[in-house]
Amino acid sequence: MNPYLLMVVLYLSVAVLGALESSFSSLQILPWFNGMKWLRIHLITLGALTETIFWLMPLLVAQRAKLPHPKLRWDIWLSLNGGILLLLVGIPLVDFVPIFAGGTLVFVAAVLLIGQLWGMKAVGKDTAVSSPTRKFYIAGLSYFLLGIIVGTGLWFGWAEPLHIATPLEVHIHANNWGLLSLVFAGLLIDLYPIWAKRPLANPQSINTIFWMMTAGAFGLIFGPWFAATWLLVPGLLLHLGATGWLLYNIIKPLRGDRAAWTPGMLHLVTSYFWILAPVLVAPLVLLQVPGIPGHSIEANAPQALIYGWVLQFGYALIPYFVRRVFLPQEAPKLGGSRFSLVTVHLGGISLWASIFAEGSLRGILHGSAYLLWALSLLPIVYELWQIVRSGMERAEVELATAD
Ligand code: HEM
Repeated sequence: MNPYLLMVVLYLSVAVLGALESSFSSLQILPWFNGMKWLRIHLITLGALTETIFWLMPLLVAQRAKLPHPKLRWDIWLSLNGGILLLLVGIPLVDFVPIFAGGTLVFVAAVLLIGQLWGMKAVGKDTAVSSPTRKFYIAGLSYFLLGIIVGTGLWFGWAEPLHIATPLEVHIHANNWGLLSLVFAGLLIDLYPIWAKRPLANPQSINTIFWMMTAGAFGLIFGPWFAATWLLVPGLLLHLGATGWLLYNIIKPLRGDRAAWTPGMLHLVTSYFWILAPVLVAPLVLLQVPGIPGHSIEANAPQALIYGWVLQFGYALIPYFVRRVFLPQEAPKLGGSRFSLVTVHLGGISLWASIFAEGSLRGILHGSAYLLWALSLLPIVYELWQIVRSGMERAEVELATAD
């Protein structure tokens, strides 16, 4: 059984409760609930998605470079999960020791994984065969190291000695424009030919997309770090260009082929709307256009980014691999359904509407957003437990009949 995927299913299950809790607290159903912000975001990001990509990256790099199947690195699994556990203890208590220890262990896990990927080069006569996405994964993880340092020190005044102008923004940008954008791009480049059964529109654009996205993330991280708009704006344009080119690569070959647009493929492609939404509004905030609630956008937009883009990407990706591992005899397919597609997008629309709403309507729309996201998670979590349970039962039967 795979220890990473079991943790993924566990975190996604608890994420349903996190979303419900936030919904009930905003809808004043349980007003004394405080809707713990860290938990509802990090069960998804640091929990479900980080576990998934930490497991997947070495496998995909080995496959593309025609290297032997890599053994599971228990040192990486242990430091990642030990770190998350300590953060789950320390963050609610705002206690420095478990937060520092937890952040350090997650940092160690990321460094060990970078080391493992760095060493995964084809040797001897096969040097031509290398994974075109290994650099995406290593660059993404390198930005994650920055995100971890800033996140770990966020409540302990590390921003000052590190001269960080807006630490929360740097943390969010390093983990989303850096880590997840680059890793998701690598996953799409590696897996799209399997999922869509056709090549990318422009396979020769992969290197340019990599350098544009990596340089873009650099500007998007160090712009807010040094309050340097001259870094932020070109970074944003480069990153947007790279993301647009990546989406063009996966949409163009599917055009006119209705059967190819399964709920899973729609989850993957339309999820990118929610990383673009804050960008479309950003100029209005930067120019302080009257009627645009800048503070409310900054306070709430990260939630729509994580639920609308990161979680939704996971809706397609995670069931596909959980099925491949737990039910290898069955044909794997991308996760998601029309129901999860509609509810996750309605959740995003409701969250953004709450940003511009006034009075009690704001709470109703904010609470409805989390209710819709909790509903969108239900069929995914249900499907995952179905797969895990039948996979475990089958393994036990095989074990019992093996003698
Ligand atoms: C060791 C790893 C991490 C640590 C120590 C950490 C720590 C933190 C802290 C302390 C906050 C502020 C929460 C608050 O204001 O209540 C935060 C916010 C946030 N973090 Fe992390 N984080 C980590 C990993 C990640 C990852 C992997 C992602 C995404 C890929 C992420 C995305 C975010 C986002 C989007 C917010 C803003 C939440 C909001 O304002 O609603 N973090 N993080």
